[in-house]
Amino acid sequence: MPRTVIAGNWKMHKTAAETRAFIEAFVPLVADVSPEIEIAIAPPFTALAAAREALAADTRVRLGAQNVHWEPQGAYTGEISISMLQEHGVSHVIVGHSERRAYCNELDSTVNLKVRALLAHGLTPIVAVGETLDERNAGETDARVTAQTRAALDGLDDAQIARLVLAYEPIWAIGTGHNCDPAEAGRVMEAIRGCSPALADVPLLYGGSMKAENVAAYMAHAHINGGLVGGASLDPAAFATLVRNATTR
Ligand code: PGA
Repeated sequence: MPRTVIAGNWKMHKTAAETRAFIEAFVPLVADVSPEIEIAIAPPFTALAAAREALAADTRVRLGAQNVHWEPQGAYTGEISISMLQEHGVSHVIVGHSERRAYCNELDSTVNLKVRALLAHGLTPIVAVGETLDERNAGETDARVTAQTRAALDGLDDAQIARLVLAYEPIWAIGTGHNCDPAEAGRVMEAIRGCSPALADVPLLYGGSMKAENVAAYMAHAHINGGLVGGASLDPAAFATLVRNATTR
């Protein structure tokens, strides 16, 4: 049975000071949520140090990053390495988000390089896949997301695949308020799980206009094990309610 994971993807939101304020408000609100639920927030790189400090002894909320480079160091202006993230206690890294695929030249091949590097260093990749509205309308959804998934898994052995988290994020549902029907999301996610027997116990997260009001409908589906949450993760009370609604089944 896959564990439940709820991760907040803050994108390009929040300064270090705003991150500290979020954590001070958020941590008490989720303190009594079952320890079996994995909760993570992914602030911008510049707020990771402040986040780490504010989380201090709190072990309930994990720290994520929104991107990483696969090389350990070198002439890669503007990039961040795995050891730089580990220095700040980062345990989860979002890889292949559609915004990075669309605006920052993230490719299936670089997603795979990042996944391999993260696994080699004991971090948890959260690999995002998803189709555009045009691909959906053309009936290409399943082919698109399974191709992205297979490319991300390329060359990994079963034990490595078992350490991943995958996120299905239909691009047309991200930040639009038009969330994918939970039954349809679950159907696509079953196809994603079918890409490898080693995905049997891998958490599959839904992402795309998930919020406190709709999270339970997703969690009711057998192949949906949590959420990758953008807009609704920015407010501590709203995100805490979402986490609670996800876990009171
Ligand atoms: P959203 O974003 O929840 O604001 O739709 C989700 C994501 O992009 O991860």
